[in-house]
Order: sequence, then structure tokens, then C-alpha cells
Amino acid sequence: MAAITKTALTSSRLVKSPFGLLLVRSVCTTAAISAPATTATADPAPGITSSKGPNLKNFAIYRWDPDRTEKPQLKTYTVNTAECGPMVLDALIKIKNEIDSSLSFRRSCREGICGSCAMNIEGSNGLACLTKINTDPKSETKITPLPHMYVIKDLVVDMTQFYSQYKSIEPWLKTKNPSPGGKEHLQTKKDRKKLDGMYECILCACCTTSCPSYWWNPEKYLGPAALLQAHRWIADSRDEYTTERLESLDDPFKLYRCHTIMNCARACPKGLNPGMQIAKLKQLQVRR
Ligand code: SF4
Ligand code: SF4
Ligand code: FES
Repeated sequence: MAAITKTALTSSRLVKSPFGLLLVRSVCTTAAISAPATTATADPAPGITSSKGPNLKNFAIYRWDPDRTEKPQLKTYTVNTAECGPMVLDALIKIKNEIDSSLSFRRSCREGICGSCAMNIEGSNGLACLTKINTDPKSETKITPLPHMYVIKDLVVDMTQFYSQYKSIEPWLKTKNPSPGGKEHLQTKKDRKKLDGMYECILCACCTTSCPSYWWNPEKYLGPAALLQAHRWIADSRDEYTTERLESLDDPFKLYRCHTIMNCARACPKGLNPGMQIAKLKQLQVRR
């Protein structure tokens, strides 16, 4: 894992939106003054109280700080889940607020919309805000960054390449003719329905970072998220650059590194199937 300077934490990020490149994500981090892992004895999280006894649960969390000399390590934190919200993100926020403020992770919406809190939880990629805490006190929950990504700090990974691959598919409406009357480009309900299963993508990268083909060729293979988005614009009845879009994907690495392993569909927290969208792209290439 290569170190990346901390200034990257404050830089603007390429933007994700089904309608274009716009959004900036926040990073939950503070100055890297590392506090020792301790047992939680703090007050309940705001608004969460419990009449039950404590249910102490261990979380082993990947820690690495580019400004310190220690190697990456798993640090264990104990949380009373009876006094915590039900999701893994609630536990991370409780740890940061009450035990170790140096812990860094991304989050924004807390409801599976922004895609910021993607990480590897108990061996599977997912969104911390949508993943329930396994409350079995005997099992420790291991949380690590998205796999095969450069780590900036702790659970924060560098998304630069992921976003530049998304940008490369030109994720916006491209037309050759002006819209009728200078108004919106209209679409029938039937044509709009063709975008179902694609427009819902929140660009969390859970799929791309679970794809073995992407692990092997991250610079050349576009990966499932960018390819799903590419098909989203190719399938859009209003877009007039279908041929050019398909031509630009007709490359042994960009598209054809997908070997239909389908890890992507298993990983997607929104229930989408990027592997199937990639198969449709391949069919369109054959028909072209
Ligand atoms: S189906 Fe394709 S994109 Fe999805 S995990 Fe497999 S190789 Fe990767
Ligand atoms: S397809 Fe699913 S897993 Fe992949 S980036 Fe989109 S929402 Fe995330
Ligand atoms: S915080 Fe937005 S998706 Fe989890």
C-alpha cells in the first residue's frame, strides 16, 4: 500500500451523480493524534439509551497513519452495542466520538445514498450505514478499507482512479441535434424504464473493488461500476452518441477483462447487477 500525502484528504473530489459530475464527499478525520485502544466506558450515543445490560462487542479496525512510523495494524475497540445504533457506521461514530477521535472514515448521508461509507466488513464489501452490527459478543467484527485500493488513512481510500475511470465514460447526456423547442429532451415511460437497474448506482465502488479482474488490471480494465454507468448512457434513448460510446469501449482491456465471475453483483449494496450490464454491452458490440 503506497502512502499518499494528507493534503489529498482536503482536495475536491470528482463528482458523482446520475446526471453528471458534481458532488464532493466529506472525510471524517481529525488530526492524527493516536489515542490508545481502550474499553468503552462512555455515555450512550445521543438519543440511544438502554434498559438492558451491556452487550460488549469487539471491533478490530484497520489503522494506518501516513504521518506515523507504525506499520498498518488492526486495533480492537470494545463498544456496548446496547447503547449504540444498529449499524456498523453507528459503532464507528461511537468509537470516534467516545474512544479514539483519530479514527478516520468517510460518511455523509447515513442512509445508503452517498456511497461514502463503503468498506470491507467481516470480509465483504458493503456500506457501513446499511450493514447491521453482528451483535454476537463472541465474534469480533473486522473492518478494513476497500480491498486493493491505496489507503490514505485508516478506512479512507484513494478514489482518484475510480473517478477518472468514471469520467472516461463521459457520464452525461450527449446529443447532436438541439432539443425540440430548446426545451428538455423528452423520453417515454417505456424508454425511461430501460434505465432501471443502472440509474440507482451510487458509485460506492463496492463492486469494482471486489472484482478479481479489476485487482489484476486496475489501470486498464474499467471495472464494473464504470461499465454499468457506460451502459446507462448507451441505453438512454435521448443520447445520440451510442456508436461512439460503444467504439470507445471496444478494447481488450477496458471491457473484455470481465470474465463474468459476478463478485460485483454479490457486493452491490443497492442490489444492482453490473456483471449483467457488462454482458449487455458485449452483446451490443457483437451486433454493431
Ligand atoms: S462479472 Fe465481470 S465485473 Fe463483475 S466481478 Fe466478475 S469479472 Fe468483475
Ligand atoms: S453498481 Fe452497486 S456496488 Fe457498484 S458502484 Fe454502483 S452502487 Fe456501488
Ligand atoms: S453514509 Fe452515505 S452511503 Fe453510507
